[in-house]
Amino acid sequence: MTTPTLQVRGKEDLKKELKKLLETFYALEEDPFIPGQSKIQLSTTVYDAEEAMGVMEAILSGWITQGRLVQSFEQKYAEWVGRRYAVAVNSGSSANLIALDLLMQDGKLKSGDEVIVPAATFATVVAPVLQLGLKPVYVDVDPKMLNIDPHQVEEAMGRRTKLLIAVHTLGYPADMTRLSKLAQSAGLLVMEDCCESHGASHRGRPVGSMGLLGTFSFFVAHNMTTGEGGMIVTDTLSHASLARSLREFGRMPQGGERYYSDDRLSYYDSRQVFERRGYNMRMTDLTAACGIAQLKKVEAMNEKRREAARYYCERLRPYETLIQLPVEQPGNRHVYYGFSLVIQKKSPFSRMDLVSFLDDHKIESRPLFGGCLPDQPGFRKAPGRIVGKLPVSRWLRDNALFIGVHPKINEAERVYVVETLSKFLERYR
Ligand SMILES: Cc1ncc(COP(=O)(O)O)c(C=O)c1O
Repeated sequence: MTTPTLQVRGKEDLKKELKKLLETFYALEEDPFIPGQSKIQLSTTVYDAEEAMGVMEAILSGWITQGRLVQSFEQKYAEWVGRRYAVAVNSGSSANLIALDLLMQDGKLKSGDEVIVPAATFATVVAPVLQLGLKPVYVDVDPKMLNIDPHQVEEAMGRRTKLLIAVHTLGYPADMTRLSKLAQSAGLLVMEDCCESHGASHRGRPVGSMGLLGTFSFFVAHNMTTGEGGMIVTDTLSHASLARSLREFGRMPQGGERYYSDDRLSYYDSRQVFERRGYNMRMTDLTAACGIAQLKKVEAMNEKRREAARYYCERLRPYETLIQLPVEQPGNRHVYYGFSLVIQKKSPFSRMDLVSFLDDHKIESRPLFGGCLPDQPGFRKAPGRIVGKLPVSRWLRDNALFIGVHPKINEAERVYVVETLSKFLERYR
């Protein structure tokens, strides 16, 4: 018996082989869609050999924590959004916490200050406000746009109101023109939560480029993903530096003098000098490798989402007396994190009726995030001020849902979704 000889090749050759293998893997056919049996997912990762090879290269380089790739992802991301600086973190929730904390460190906010938030939103838009001792002011949303209602923002302003968090819900841009004008006249700061809206724009301006700070999430359900991940964007160098310090234990900026001295510390290694109380919310180079690859594809992926949304809108239009479809206002570019369906007031069926029907037909759906957040168990008794009775947010809490329009939804799946929804809605027409 002969022993197989191990062919010794160089690292670069092996990498090329690895890349070819990954390309072959991702070129394999996906399982065929079987109507009624295959699940129509709310979201899915759209990865190929580029992401997989990016991660492999990071592993093979031996550097897997925050490093060169995180820095490169930050630079590319800042450029894409049209901001000077981007600071990568481990989630969108961390991005929100750090963004608010840096405004406190900078003296722009202090404990007890009020922060205007949309009532219909996700938990970690508001949780960091409370975690930092700030006070949320819940404002109703616009019934068509599902975003914070500028009229209600005007009502909400008080002596201690200092910041407005404009959330671009479901990839639908908020009315930043009116919100910015209002904020400017009242001396309010504006921060944009773009966690659900990478690549959306308002009057030609990308979301994240209009407020003092913008935050993004790269969780799997989102328009571009790194599994988990987040980003803070800003034009202010001191804010970027504070964000970098906060994400890394609160330590002093690196890359300058190796040793630090003051009246108590003598020639102390700067890596162990903590200027503030921070967190560990760093992104790893493995994550950043995915982000770099995804950033090249996000525009094309968004176009696919927009195309699927157009398809649904056109075909579901006859049922608009029963169900409200997304509305894209002139000048806005929606990127459809999901496709919203809001049950009209006069419809004779409930959300549960519709969701059960969709479940039975293997079409995934979700309510509109937290619905009306101050009604959620964890927020009911927390400090906060509610402006009015929040009729729209409470309607959405009970009557809104969204379905998937991710870039992998193909023609057969789209046809099936429309047929299924039509079958349900026809009963009530
Ligand atoms: C508006 C909004 N903000 C913040 C987050 C938090 O992002 P992450 O899941 O990355 O922590 C989400 C999550 O979906 C969100 O929808």
